[in-house]
Amino acid sequence: MPGKPSFYITTPIYYVNDIPHIGHAYTTLACDYLARFKRLDGFDVMFLTGTDEHGQKVEKSAEAAGMTPIELCDKVSQRFRELADFMNYSHDDFIRTTEERHKISCQALWTKLEENGHIYLDKYAGWYSVRDEAFYGEGELEEKDGEKVAPTGAPVEWVEEESYFFRLSAWEDRLLEFYENLPQTVLPNSRKNEVKSFVKGGLRDLSVSRTSFKWGIPVPGNDKHIMYVWIDALTNYMTAAGYPDMDSEKFQKFWPADIHMVGKDILRFHALYWPAFLMAADIDPAKRVFAHGWWTNEGQKISKSLGNVIDPFQIVEEFGLDQVRYFLMREVPFGNDGDFNRQAMINRINSDLANDLGNLAQRSLSMIFKNCDGVMPSPGKLTDTDKDILTAVDSLLPKVRDHIEVQAISKSLETIWKLVSDANGYFAGQEPWALKKTDPDRMATVLYTTAEIIRQIAILIQPIMPDSAAKLLDQLKIPADERGFDQLGGDHRLASGFEMDKPEGVFPRFVDQ
Ligand code: MSP
Repeated sequence: MPGKPSFYITTPIYYVNDIPHIGHAYTTLACDYLARFKRLDGFDVMFLTGTDEHGQKVEKSAEAAGMTPIELCDKVSQRFRELADFMNYSHDDFIRTTEERHKISCQALWTKLEENGHIYLDKYAGWYSVRDEAFYGEGELEEKDGEKVAPTGAPVEWVEEESYFFRLSAWEDRLLEFYENLPQTVLPNSRKNEVKSFVKGGLRDLSVSRTSFKWGIPVPGNDKHIMYVWIDALTNYMTAAGYPDMDSEKFQKFWPADIHMVGKDILRFHALYWPAFLMAADIDPAKRVFAHGWWTNEGQKISKSLGNVIDPFQIVEEFGLDQVRYFLMREVPFGNDGDFNRQAMINRINSDLANDLGNLAQRSLSMIFKNCDGVMPSPGKLTDTDKDILTAVDSLLPKVRDHIEVQAISKSLETIWKLVSDANGYFAGQEPWALKKTDPDRMATVLYTTAEIIRQIAILIQPIMPDSAAKLLDQLKIPADERGFDQLGGDHRLASGFEMDKPEGVFPRFVDQ
């Protein structure tokens, strides 16, 4: 039997100069949703997240906090791990760039680039932003309060030092070919065009080492030089896949990665530098970089200085984990910017979850419990109306899957909720409560049909709301090995005749205190 197809998805690795906030939680949540979806859809998934611990920014933050860099890294990296557990992420590996496996991997990639003639020693004279860990050309800079700043608003400093360079300028044509021939390597399309025009504007060779700080991975053979933090950081994706052991089963299976998920601010590093480094080392670049948008808070940019940073731990405490997961993925078309708005969150919880799905499940299952002696009834002869709604739920997966293929995350949820709404229409239209006395067989058929719809919806929503979906599936007594997407559709109907437990509501209404 052929093995399962593979799927490798990565989050950016998070800087340890900052504690986790909603933006970090968001990127990883999107990956968790996609990873869980693919696992249920029969893929062998590797889902990677972790922390980016080297570089000048971290070195400076540690100094400011009166700690050694590794003390700061240990502390903050642990906080990111806690966030990952708290948010119920299903990552398979958590990488730290201070690990030995990563040093070996970075040095191997460097050596390969050098052997292939893509790295040379020269002198760098130009602008650098520690906050962005990025080099900027004079023409890219802007003015703020009489000072030169990066286009991101970050301060820049003039740097002049000996540096190794990567011959990025030699990769313009190959990169443009790469975007052209493989049309979905960068999504959304608007982002791809952004990267293409940057490349068309001409590429300068990239400084890839520094001598003015120590906190990083030394250049092999010249440890006065520390690798540029982005070459170090990007390589994490290969380290976790087993690089430099390219013959290993893991590397063979998972490389090239299927998706690097990133925020729009770090697109250039992933869609331009990274494929160029890899092609220069004779390694295939990832199949896709997806750049998502940014969250604002009640219309304002989120920033430490404005004091409006949203703490994921706190909003989950207040609204509930699955509720927050659903809101973040449903509210904003994935790829666009979004606004975190309290009222919008409450509306989603009360309308989509409590009213639409919650009520449908609770009303129909309680009715079975009360009116059918707590035993799941068998359906009688199906009417055309029953058949229509069952056909609709049976054919949901391919539609949802099409959205997942292009990371249209909110659309995938919208598609499921359209069915929830139709199912509510079906239930209300059939009035099973009125059939108890007049036609109990018909009542049983309607209730069974509704329970079967709930079974399929609960299977489909496992990636977004794993705990709530599990509660629904437990109420329907679906065994653990019958919760995969292979159980969707008409070939695996809900069993009849089992005894139910008294159904408990899964999606409470949110009442503002
Ligand atoms: N360390 C680099 C990534 C290296 S990957 C090889 C980095 N780290 S970060 O911690 O600053 O940011 C990580 C991710 O969080 C980015 O994808 C960024 O877009 C995302 N977000 C940070 N703030 C955000 C919002 N306000 N909204 C949405 N996402 C945001 O960059």
